Amino acid sequence: MKAIVITTPGGPEVLQLQDVDDPELKDDEVLIKVEATALNRADTIQRQGSYPPPKGASPYPGLECSGTIEAVGKKVSRWKIGDQVCALLSGGGYAEKVAVPAGQVLPVPPGVSLKDAASFPEVACTVWSTIFMMSHLSEGETLLVHGGSSGIGTFAIQIAKYRGSKVFVTAGSEEKLAFCKDIGADVGINYKTEDFVARVKEETGGQGVNVILDCMGASYYQRNLESLSVDGRLFIIGFLGGTSTEADLRAFLAKRLTVQGAGLRNRSPENKAVIVNEVENNVWPAIAAGKVKPVVYKYFPLSEAAEAHRLMESSKHIGKILLLP
Ligand SMILES: NC(=O)c1ccc[n+]([C@@H]2O[C@H](COP(=O)([O-])OP(=O)(O)OC[C@H]3O[C@@H](n4cnc5c(N)ncnc54)[C@H](OP(=O)(O)O)[C@@H]3O)[C@@H](O)[C@H]2O)c1
Repeated sequence: MKAIVITTPGGPEVLQLQDVDDPELKDDEVLIKVEATALNRADTIQRQGSYPPPKGASPYPGLECSGTIEAVGKKVSRWKIGDQVCALLSGGGYAEKVAVPAGQVLPVPPGVSLKDAASFPEVACTVWSTIFMMSHLSEGETLLVHGGSSGIGTFAIQIAKYRGSKVFVTAGSEEKLAFCKDIGADVGINYKTEDFVARVKEETGGQGVNVILDCMGASYYQRNLESLSVDGRLFIIGFLGGTSTEADLRAFLAKRLTVQGAGLRNRSPENKAVIVNEVENNVWPAIAAGKVKPVVYKYFPLSEAAEAHRLMESSKHIGKILLLP
């Protein structure tokens, strides 16, 4: 089969389409003929050599895909050859075929095309497992999403609105903020021209928000603590703004704050299967009802993976970028 190989750590040009061996199918896996795979920010870090795949995972990038099941392992009962599915991967999506544990596979949501289904597994599993399963974001609560126009952000806005939250977002341009509002965000904050702490306070009558989904890490840590309400929860999923910082901890006692963080890729297959099952039960009905839609900015042929990485690293995109083998 053909796959995108990271020929050496480096810039987008190190991504090359090569002939490689087909994946080996284990008893608890299905083999998917890939219709589409989607980029994630982590792929760019893997390409640079700073985010190696977990032990046993495919060396090729790609954390999610959609496609048609081509073969089924001996212990798999739910899926059959010909099923149209999408899947959460530990790697290997940038290829014509990928093998994945059956517990990480989902049916294509009703009303979504086979190729656009590739835009959902990573964002749905990340957002559901963090702010819903761990931070317990509830109906009527307020949520602040940093990077509202990202793949993660555009999904988080839609699902949080569907579940009855008031959603605040930050983004770096008026165009991105307008898009976020179109898909449901209530309050848009341009972090280049506004102080998000002051704006959150203003919009919440001085209370702060209940939950923050943060991809910035160090550079926003202190300001995130200041933006939270009493009993507020900060969930950190990325470090675009660095990994080390100093902070004034007094707010923890005064406001009874909780700070959590988690990565999806390094969870065990069993743990991922629990999340995938929750996503199917809680998120798929919202997609089927048309309340959460795929947000795809651009499709590239798989052979143009380098160009797709350049686009992601320019941060010009809104939503997801897809690759088609
Ligand atoms: N923990 C997990 O399991 C997990 C899973 C998936 C994703 N993530 C994380 O979630 C974040 C979003 O991922 P994604 O794939 O949805 O990314 P994405 O679509 O590439 O979006 C990232 C956005 O962040 C904003 N941004 C702000 N500061 C930035 C900076 N210093 N450098 C680059 N971009 C910056 C940019 O929008 P503006 O123009 O508004 O600045 C950019 O469009 C990433 O940090 C990723 O690592 C974590």
